Amino acid sequence: MANQQLIEEIQKRRIFGIISHPDAGKTTLTEKLLLHGGAIREAGTVKGRHNSKAATSDWMEIEKQRGISVTSSVMQFEYKGKVISIMDTPGHNDFGEDTYRILTSVDSAVMVIDGAKGIEAQTKKLFKVCSMRGIPIFTFINKMDREAMDPLESMEELEEVLGLPSVAVTWPIGCGLNFQGIYDRLENVVHLYKVGKTIELGKEGVFGPELEEHLTGNNLKNLRAEIELIEGAGNEFNLEAIQHGKLSPVFFGSALADFGVTQFLNHFLAMSPPPGPRKTTEGEIEPTEEEFSGFIFKIQANMNPAHRDRIAFLRICSGIFQRGMTVTLTRTGKPIKLSQSTQLMANERETIDNAFAGDVIGIYDTGTYQIGDTLTTKKESFFFEPLPTFPPELFARVTPKNTLKAKNFQKGVQQLAQEGAIQVYHNEYNEVIIGAVGALQFEVFEYRLKNEYNSDLLMEPLDFNVVRWLKTTELNHVKKCLDSRCMLVFDHFERPLVLFANQFTLNYFMERYKDIELVEALNVNSTLT
Ligand code: G4P
Repeated sequence: MANQQLIEEIQKRRIFGIISHPDAGKTTLTEKLLLHGGAIREAGTVKGRHNSKAATSDWMEIEKQRGISVTSSVMQFEYKGKVISIMDTPGHNDFGEDTYRILTSVDSAVMVIDGAKGIEAQTKKLFKVCSMRGIPIFTFINKMDREAMDPLESMEELEEVLGLPSVAVTWPIGCGLNFQGIYDRLENVVHLYKVGKTIELGKEGVFGPELEEHLTGNNLKNLRAEIELIEGAGNEFNLEAIQHGKLSPVFFGSALADFGVTQFLNHFLAMSPPPGPRKTTEGEIEPTEEEFSGFIFKIQANMNPAHRDRIAFLRICSGIFQRGMTVTLTRTGKPIKLSQSTQLMANERETIDNAFAGDVIGIYDTGTYQIGDTLTTKKESFFFEPLPTFPPELFARVTPKNTLKAKNFQKGVQQLAQEGAIQVYHNEYNEVIIGAVGALQFEVFEYRLKNEYNSDLLMEPLDFNVVRWLKTTELNHVKKCLDSRCMLVFDHFERPLVLFANQFTLNYFMERYKDIELVEALNVNSTLT
């Protein structure tokens, strides 16, 4: 492929993650976006929610039962010549570190906010991860067909609570029963709700005569007052600031009514950046570089109960993927032939032959890959920036209920650990200890072991909630210093660490045994030297 063609393919690509607090309308918006792209035929197929509707982005039974999205999935669709990948991230309270990692693989994020509730706890957490990486954040204020907060207040909240300057691209006209439409400030048009009409405005914008016959007196008066205010005191539109995550373009609408979604999508595609350069241990890699490179940010087993397989999710960062190509896994230096690849559309998969920087593909994994692995056709060995790990705060001892099923148990535990779905440790007596960021991870772990590995569990919560790695392998001395409020365990890579009852116990330990060096977190790939 000529370089110009490659550049064009890359320019077409957009990868974004959707973040929100549960119930803000993320699933409904995703569904509508997919619908516009023709990726699904009928709305209502994205998530089963509380009923039996088929789920496209939810794979697992537990998700269907509880109407939540536990694992993050990827959906790709084409729209107006662009190839768009949406990374779904679980929004419920105690999701796992999986969510954070997903956000390392996206180029922008869409933040869905419930127009009545404003910014909620979960959104804040996820927002922090995005802003740390400086990725552009697009805000969609949803549910305007219901009573909502004053839009000026919503905008203020973004600045105050998140510290994110914002600029309104569309503006709501009323809300709830009085909702009459949105004003698109960039296009200078008003889209009328329910009527399905678009009114082109003249030079004077909302202050001209065009809207008078369409809006109620009150709505028109408020709209003019609000627009006057944001034009006078609001932030100016600045594409560069948007693309650097310093200014969030704000849109209003109703995902449920599919209103304001098209405008959002069109502006999003015009403003969001295509794949850019990525940092590696050997400097930055441009997406247009000819040599192929990418990293694995997620591994998922048993996505489809009909095929007992594991899929590694690969974000392509440069070059072209061709099915059957041989790449190097830089962690081991070994060559690997990528013969089985798949495009991901949750539980529907298609084999793909070519993919470009800015695509996410699934590759079949037989236990070769780890989260954070770099794959490349380049001669020189390098790693993409390590993915962050998040220290678990909850721990439990797990044993198989039926010792005859111990083999299934071992296999399940090992595979789920490799997926990064949960942290698995063992202690000196070879007991299995699991660690998680949120309690739901335990529930999912238990459920999956039972359903995918036919192994029932006994799970005994442990009274620890802080973990530190030891910077030594001289363990005899460490063992003498431990008491009932700490436990020595080993991680997946046989690196020793200590679980502490709480921060207080940890402080006491550090104060008392100054010679024992502890570290808060280790990157996925790092080993102790
Ligand atoms: P989530 O993925 O962020 O958790 O939210 P989800 O899309 O599942 O939406 C949560 C609830 O809010 C759903 O209602 C959904 O229909 C509703 N909703 C989403 N967007 C809008 C909107 O723009 N306007 C209004 N009025 N409601 C909206 P539910 O009753 O929990 O589910 P269901 O029974 O409708 O499936």
